[in-house]
Amino acid sequence: MAKPNLQIALDHSDLPSALKDVKNVGDIVDILEVGTILVLQEGDQAIKCVRAMYPEKTIVADTKCADAGTTVAGNVAKAGADWMTVICAATIPTMKAAAKEVKDLQVELYGDWTYDQAQEWLDAGIDQAIYHQSRDALFAGETWGEKDLTKVKKLIDMGFRVSVTGGLDVDTLKLFEGIPVYTFITGRGITAAENPAKAAQAFQDELIRLWGE
Ligand code: 5RP
Repeated sequence: MAKPNLQIALDHSDLPSALKDVKNVGDIVDILEVGTILVLQEGDQAIKCVRAMYPEKTIVADTKCADAGTTVAGNVAKAGADWMTVICAATIPTMKAAAKEVKDLQVELYGDWTYDQAQEWLDAGIDQAIYHQSRDALFAGETWGEKDLTKVKKLIDMGFRVSVTGGLDVDTLKLFEGIPVYTFITGRGITAAENPAKAAQAFQDELIRLWGE
């Protein structure tokens, strides 16, 4: 089973601290995400800076776009993003329009969504989904468990490449052992660590231990 990718989410509220962290861990992780918080604060400047530092890496703009797919996706692609996220509540026309502008589009699963909708995303040619425990749900006491594994497995069986995210730490990864998760996305698990490079390496080591090289 392929080792899942490790993606860092840069959810900083200012560009200098995001760039400091990405400089420390950019070569360790597989995918770089300009997170929702950073993109709202700093706009396409943040994408441009990360692209200038890492010309070869896959960069995701986590816009969680709900509308104006062509414009938003066109703007982030021009700034240097490869992939972009849309919220699951976006319409199929918004998703299709955005998908034309970027190399790949990911649907962020929040709140209410159905497997029928998920099939419509696949039918529209969108095969990346992000299974999310929201930051606010986690603050309210939600934890990762069997209910999440069931949904992740079903989405993979349907044909999605599934990313998993939300308050992950190294210990959470073993819950998913044996499941072909495409990517684990972590923000604070790396950026809030005393030594972000060491934390990123610990995530990669655990992914290799559980899934192989
Ligand atoms: C929040 C996000 C975050 O980028 C993602 O959940 C990772 O953050 P953390 O590991 O800090 O929870 O998309 O909307």
